[in-house]
Amino acid sequence: MEVLVFGASGYSGQELVRILARHPNARIAAATSDREAGRPIDVAPELGLSHVRHDDASAMASRDHVAFLATPAETSAELAPRLLDRGARVVDLSGAFRLSDPAAYREWYGFVHPKPELLAEAHYGIPELFAMPPTTRLVANPGCYATASILAVAPLLDLTEGPVIIDGKSGTTGAGKKAEEAMLFAEVAENLRAYRVGKHQHTPEIEEALSIRAGREVKVSFTAHLVPMRRGILVTAYLRAKPNVATRDALGALERAYAGTMVRVVDRPPETQRVLNTNGTEVGAHLDARTSTLIAFGAIDNLVRGAAGQAVQNMNAMIGLPIETGLR
Ligand SMILES: NC(=O)c1ccc[n+]([C@@H]2O[C@H](COP(=O)([O-])OP(=O)(O)OC[C@H]3O[C@@H](n4cnc5c(N)ncnc54)[C@H](OP(=O)(O)O)[C@@H]3O)[C@@H](O)[C@H]2O)c1
Repeated sequence: MEVLVFGASGYSGQELVRILARHPNARIAAATSDREAGRPIDVAPELGLSHVRHDDASAMASRDHVAFLATPAETSAELAPRLLDRGARVVDLSGAFRLSDPAAYREWYGFVHPKPELLAEAHYGIPELFAMPPTTRLVANPGCYATASILAVAPLLDLTEGPVIIDGKSGTTGAGKKAEEAMLFAEVAENLRAYRVGKHQHTPEIEEALSIRAGREVKVSFTAHLVPMRRGILVTAYLRAKPNVATRDALGALERAYAGTMVRVVDRPPETQRVLNTNGTEVGAHLDARTSTLIAFGAIDNLVRGAAGQAVQNMNAMIGLPIETGLR
């Protein structure tokens, strides 16, 4: 399969290039950056490719291509329809197609969605939890915090009730490569802080996915924290346990949901180090019987399972390959 990678100079785009360069069924036809146009792609020198301009790659797109968009949400919202019109299939790593309600884009992403009719068509791609319809041509690749949260919590919803509280902690690559004062080394090192409190844009996609899985409305209170490390996400979620639920029930539900996948259920607290640079996920759960709180954990590498690795899982599903092809 020929693939186009838009945003190949960014953190998730670079990770996509690394993975796709080794994928047995993919060939990178073009990888884009306007800033780096004409310069070699250093993360996979064996390919002998240079970055091409975004517009030149979109002009190439055809029904022979799967296009990965590792671009800002507003860019993806404009670019994906053009690529679909040219017959390409699209896996978008941004939030541009993750929410079903067009009005939510103004509130959570700060722009008016230019193609609201595509929101109903986009498939929300967590392959272990949501089967992909065979005719899918547009995948909304879930957010990094959302992936860790949904994988940790979704199998536990039958054992719990009420709202879910989620604490997420991420390394600095989660914010992308753009220069920003708050992301300077001196601001981040030896520091820990919450950010976008009450308005993080991953909140509504977590709520939507968990509500679909639960068959009831699930409200989520999510708080993101910035940790002085480069990559990795750990989420800790707090759920109200139904009567008589034990830790072993929660671990059993996680085991059943993820048997045979790259999501590992662990009986000790998950750690980011153990999933770093891999598409693996660690999930775990513990009942705090004193307060009837089921505590769920999820650890991922934000750039692999939280972005590029999951996008490749979705491409695999789209073209009929086992979802972990090229990722083990
Ligand atoms: N970082 C993460 O952990 C993570 C995880 C999951 C999802 N995501 C999502 O993935 C997307 C990329 O994130 P990132 O962190 O990799 O970003 P990044 O490091 O800031 O890179 C952004 C990329 O987008 C390109 N770009 C910027 N404006 C563009 C435009 N108008 N047209 C085409 N390309 C444009 C840039 O190309 P130039 O070189 O030309 O500037 C660059 O390659 C975002 O939507 C983000 O929310 C990120």
